[in-house]
Formats: sequence, structure tokens, C-alpha cells
Amino acid sequence: MKKQMADWLVKENISLNNSYFLLKLTLHKQLPEILPGQFVQVKIEHSPTTFLRRPISVHFVDRKAGELWLLIQQVGDGTRQLATIEAGEKLNLIYPLGNSFTLPADKNTSLLLIGGGVGVAPLLYLGAYLKERGYNKPAFLLGARTENDLLQLEEFSKYGEVHITTENGQAGEKGFVTNHSVLQNKKFDFIYSCGPKPMMMAVAKFAKEHTVSCEVSLENTMACGIGACLCCVEKTKKGNTCVCMEGPVFNINELTWPI
Ligand SMILES: Cc1cc2nc3c(=O)[nH]c(=O)nc-3n(C[C@H](O)[C@H](O)[C@H](O)COP(=O)(O)OP(=O)(O)OC[C@H]3O[C@@H](n4cnc5c(N)ncnc54)[C@H](O)[C@@H]3O)c2cc1C
Ligand code: FES
Repeated sequence: MKKQMADWLVKENISLNNSYFLLKLTLHKQLPEILPGQFVQVKIEHSPTTFLRRPISVHFVDRKAGELWLLIQQVGDGTRQLATIEAGEKLNLIYPLGNSFTLPADKNTSLLLIGGGVGVAPLLYLGAYLKERGYNKPAFLLGARTENDLLQLEEFSKYGEVHITTENGQAGEKGFVTNHSVLQNKKFDFIYSCGPKPMMMAVAKFAKEHTVSCEVSLENTMACGIGACLCCVEKTKKGNTCVCMEGPVFNINELTWPI
């Protein structure tokens, strides 16, 4: 898939709370093919400390409205600057980058999409993409530290049933995603996951122990996003691998995680 660079128009910048915001962007031409799991590299203007582009997952593609959505947590100078962008301004992106989640051959496969924190971002588009292609409705298992960190629940519920955990018990079941009762009560054939690495490792361990197929989307620190700087390397069974080019999505059997 050809990479492109273009200025996108900010249609809306919706503040979800103090930490998270949702950007809805449009393009002056037809949207290219974008697959679930892919990401974009965002150029940050007016931030003297942010020279490199920032990688952000494709949260949703609304083809009818011609929109690309990005769900972003403010963690440092780059994302804080991005939070101030206003409707009508331009945002320069390189897109679409990376590989994508694998869709199972059998549309009746029982699917579980597990996200943690802002790592839920790529799972909304994956859920919508599966629905559009006639797959069984997936279940979402979304975990966060507090209720404030639970994101886009209404959007997720359009594509499948939503299960929740919070670490402090403010919403859903108390604890981590891997403690949620749905994992004991239901049998899943395929798990997709994105979130903090310890969470994905725990999910991968669960999947391995229960012989469930599992793909994880890694968020290794990136600089160029196009395979030139090698700063995103992950050690895999094939050797050192650029997450920006051969990932961010990996089958857990490809990884050398101690699970
Ligand atoms: C493929 C990919 C997809 C991503 N998708 C999203 C997304 O959809 N939404 C979103 O909010 N963020 C996403 N991220 C993380 C996002 O890129 C970083 O939060 C962002 O680059 C931080 O930039 P900053 O200038 O605000 O903070 P910086 O000043 O660069 O960093 C601030 C703090 O955040 C930490 N940090 C920076 N990058 C990462 C990272 N990749 N993972 C964990 N901690 C990090 C730094 O160590 C530091 O402690 C993604 C990362 C990757 C690699
Ligand atoms: S971010 Fe530069 S090689 Fe992956």
C-alpha cells in the first residue's frame, strides 16, 4: 500500500476529558484504503521541543463522511500541542503506515478485542471493519485505570458487546482485563489486543495457555515511522524487526516474550 503525505483538515477537535481528545480529520480528495491496525505519523507544528512526527493509530475511518478519527492521550509536549489544534486548521500526516490485523478465514470465529487505556484506539475501526465484512459480532473487553480513562464506550457498543474493567473498581469489574469474568464464562477463538505492554503480555499468556489465536499491536517508541532509523526494533523469532514496517501488529507466536 502506497504511503502518502498530505495536509488533512481538522473538522472537529473534541475534548473527551482533561487527558484525552478526539480529532476528526478530512482530506481534500478521496480517502485511500486504510486497514485496521495501521497508524499515521503526525507532524506537530508550533512545538519547539517536538521535532519528530508522532505515531498515532487509526481509531476510525468514516468513509461516508470522508473522516479519519484519531483518539489521543496528552502525555508530553507533542500531544499537548496537538490538543490545542482547532477546527479549520491543517494537520500534516504520513499515512497509512504499518501492517494490519489479520481477519480470520471463518466469519463465525468468536472474536475478543482487548484494549487498555488509549490502546483501545485501533480496536474501534477493527470492530467496524469486521461488522462491515459480515463477521460474528466481536466482544470488546476494555480496561482502564479509572472511569476517566474509559474511552468511546458508546462507539464501541455499536459493533459488539462491551465488557469493562477499572483498576479502582469505579466502573465495570474491578481489576485488570485478564481478571474479567467474560474470559472464564465464554470461549473465544481469536483475541486482538492493544494497550500497555504488561497488559498485552498478560493477554498473550492467557491466549497461549488457552490455545487461542492472538495478535497484539505494539507501541514501541518510534522516530521516522518508515524503517529508516531502527529505533522501534523488537526482537522477534525472525530476528530484530522494525515495528513501524513489519508491525505494529504481531501474532504472539512471532514474539520472544517470556510467556
Ligand atoms: C504504532 C503506535 C500507535 C500509537 N497510537 C496512539 C494512539 O492512537 N493514541 C495515543 O494517544 N498514543 C498513541 N501512541 C503513543 C504516542 O505516539 C505517544 O504517546 C506520543 O508519541 C507521545 O508524544 P509526546 O510528544 O506527547 O510525548 P513525549 O514527550 O515524546 O513523551 C512523553 C512521555 O510519553 C512516553 N511515550 C512516548 N511514546 C510512547 C509510546 N509509544 N508508548 C508509551 N509511552 C510513550 C515517553 O516515554 C514519556 O514518558 C502510539 C504509538 C505507536 C508506536
Ligand atoms: S521508527 Fe524508524 S525504523 Fe521504525
